[in-house]
Amino acid sequence: MTRPRAYITRRLPDAAVEILRRDCEVEMWPEEQTPMPREALLRAAAGADGLLTILVDRIDQDLLDAAPRLRAVANMAVGYDNVDLPALTRRGVLLTNTPGVLTETTADLAWALMLAAGRRVVEGQKLIEAGGWGPWYPMQMVGQDIYGATLGVVGAGRIGAAVLRRARGFGMSLRYHNRRPAPAIEAETGAQYRDLDAILAEADFLVVTVPLGPETRGMFGAAQFAQMKPTSVFVNVSRGPVVREADLEAALRVGRPWAAGLDVFEREPIGADHPLLGLPNVVAVPHIGSASVATRTRMATLAAENLAAALTGRAPPTPVNPEVLG
Ligand code: GLV
Repeated sequence: MTRPRAYITRRLPDAAVEILRRDCEVEMWPEEQTPMPREALLRAAAGADGLLTILVDRIDQDLLDAAPRLRAVANMAVGYDNVDLPALTRRGVLLTNTPGVLTETTADLAWALMLAAGRRVVEGQKLIEAGGWGPWYPMQMVGQDIYGATLGVVGAGRIGAAVLRRARGFGMSLRYHNRRPAPAIEAETGAQYRDLDAILAEADFLVVTVPLGPETRGMFGAAQFAQMKPTSVFVNVSRGPVVREADLEAALRVGRPWAAGLDVFEREPIGADHPLLGLPNVVAVPHIGSASVATRTRMATLAAENLAAALTGRAPPTPVNPEVLG
C-alpha cells in the first residue's frame, strides 16, 4: 500500500518529524524562521494528503482548490483563525489543533505581562539602560499592586481558567466573562461571572483569552477602554484583532487603561516603529504565549500525532471538526 504524503510547512523538531515518518512520506519546508511563500505552499499542498501547518499559513478555499488529495490539516496552535474551517468541513477535510498542551505556558505569560506592566519592569530596565537612574526618591516608578487586586478574565476556556487559578497566591478577587457562565470554573476558583461592561469597570487587571472569531473581532475598542479604571492593566494573550489597536493606543495615551501587556497584535510581526511601542506604559512581546522549550516541542509532536492518525484511519487525539470522520 502506498504511504500517505505529509507536508510540514516549517522546520520542526526531529521528534515531531519522526512521528510522521513512521506512517507517511514526509516533506518539510527546510527553513526554521522564514515562512513558505504562498506559491510554494500551494505547490506543496497540491501533492499532499495531509499538511502540518503553523499559525501564519493561510488555509483557505484557494488552497483547498489547489489540493485535490488533501484529507487533513494539523495546525500547530490552539487557535485556528488562520484556517477557513467551514470550507474544510464542506470538503470533508479534517482539522486538528493543539489544545491542552499549551494552557499552563500561556497562562504563565499572561501573568508575566500582568506583573511586568503593573510594576513597570520593562520601563525600569529601559530607564537604567538610558543612564536615567538617579538618586532614589519615594514615588519613583510607582506601579499598581497585583496582590489583593481584582482580576478579570475575559474568555473562560482552558487558558482563562489557568490564569484565574494562579491568582490564589496573590489574594485576588476574581471575575470572569464568557459567552456563557462556566459553573465548573466558578466552583474551582471562586470567580464570579460578570457581563462585559461590569468586568471592564471592576477589573484592576483584565486578561483577554478569547479565541478570534466573528463575535470577538474588534471586541475591545474605545467604548470598552473608556469603562476601565484609570489604574487598570489590560493584557492580551489571545489574538491581536480582538483589540482595535488604534483605540487602545489612544486610550493608553490618556491613561485608561493605565498600562497594557501585549503578546499579540493586529498585524504581526510589528516593527520597531509601531505606535504602541512609543508608549512607556506598554509591555510588548512577539507572540510568545506558548513559547517554552517543552511546550513548543509538545505542540509539534501533538500536531504530528494528529496528522499521522488522521492519514492512517486512527482517531486523532484533538480534532476540531470530527464530524468529517463520519
Ligand atoms: C498560539 O497563539 C496558539 O494559538 O497556539
